[in-house]
Amino acid sequence: MLNFTYKNQTEILFGKGQVAAISQRIPTSARILMLYGGGSIKSNGVYQQVQQALSQHQVWEFGGVEPNPSYETLMQAVALGREQHIDFILAVGGGSAIDGAKFIAAALHFSGDPWDILIAKAKFTQVIPIGAVLTLPATGSESNGNSVVTKKATAQKRSFSSTLVQPQFAVLDPEFTYSLPKRQISNGIVDAFVHVMEQYLTYPVHAEIQDRFAESILQTLLDVGPKALKQPENYQHRANLMWAASMALNGLIGAGVPQDWSTHMIGHELTALYGLDHAQTLAIVLPALMFVQRHQKHAKLVQLGRRVFAIHDQNEDVVIDQTIKAVQDFFETVGVKTRLSDYQLDGQVVQNVVNNLERNGMTALGERNDIDLKKAAAILRLAL
Ligand code: NZQ
Ligand code: ZN
Repeated sequence: MLNFTYKNQTEILFGKGQVAAISQRIPTSARILMLYGGGSIKSNGVYQQVQQALSQHQVWEFGGVEPNPSYETLMQAVALGREQHIDFILAVGGGSAIDGAKFIAAALHFSGDPWDILIAKAKFTQVIPIGAVLTLPATGSESNGNSVVTKKATAQKRSFSSTLVQPQFAVLDPEFTYSLPKRQISNGIVDAFVHVMEQYLTYPVHAEIQDRFAESILQTLLDVGPKALKQPENYQHRANLMWAASMALNGLIGAGVPQDWSTHMIGHELTALYGLDHAQTLAIVLPALMFVQRHQKHAKLVQLGRRVFAIHDQNEDVVIDQTIKAVQDFFETVGVKTRLSDYQLDGQVVQNVVNNLERNGMTALGERNDIDLKKAAAILRLAL
């Protein structure tokens, strides 16, 4: 096992009615910016519940954070935050609202160009605290320090990570997910699944606990994902999906193990260039990447096949082939297509993505930094 430091500072408020508890988590003297997306919270009643919980607080609102939040929109919220001397941000929504809140928290008192936080890893020291009310189980953003922001003007989707912007608390009420369209539940299942894979499917380092935790999250997603899709108002299915997605990227299974993240990096370029949903890009890239990296990932692919998919063929290459197919079939079963052509994209994509990877310095990806531009192109060609 590799050395690690582990601390998760986010207080999880899980379950029905827990949103009421936020009134005690934020001082009444706070000047709160309530940040949300395109309005789903107004039609499903979450907005009203948050307002009720904060009836004794001073709240300014900023709505309209889009999926794959844009730098351009978030900078408007930064301007509002500066004007109103905001000192707390409450994000209400999915990964986009929460990631947006993290960027605003870092940018508010940053003296230079805030885009440098994303592209030049510029240091920021003065941040304001964040809380989250999660409405979409997928990203784990509610209890990690990651933020992904897109600059529309240059088609660049970039990320930064800091414990300074990790939410202090996160409300996870499974009932808040009942109103999600099927497509977003499908996306959430795939995103969480791939988060586990990025931290698991590398090479063995005798990290037994991390491996078995990771496998149990995958097994839970395989089991509960299709059920959560079929029965939108089944509390237990939604609760298990919500907790699985959170556990998939809260730092626990990634502590002390090598990590990959190349599926995400290649996928981010597909979203930046063609506007595909985040999870759609992952469903396209991962199966092809597993195939291209099958020798480097041999031991973990066999372990995944045997322990998670119960594939017990004596021949390890057969186990690997069947495991890759099982992962691809799972994505299709939960409704996320796995080929570029399914999204009306053709061979042109390969060079465009490779050019963007190069521009963003993504030329040595993977747990061994061996996914160069040639390999990225091979992965994309396989996914056509
Ligand atoms: O904007 P509204 O109207 O709220 O609608 C949203 C949006 O259209 C809707 N939605 C959310 N909750 C709902 C709901 N509709 C009905 N009922 C509800 N309860 O769902 C749509 C998608 O929302 P979004 O927040 O964009 O989705 P998600 O949570 O999948 O977040 C995706 C973003 O997170 C980033 C992605 O790159 C992408 O930008 N990621 C963040 C990560 C992190 N912080 O650790 C890791 C991930 O790998 C990912 O990169
Ligand atoms: Zn993801």
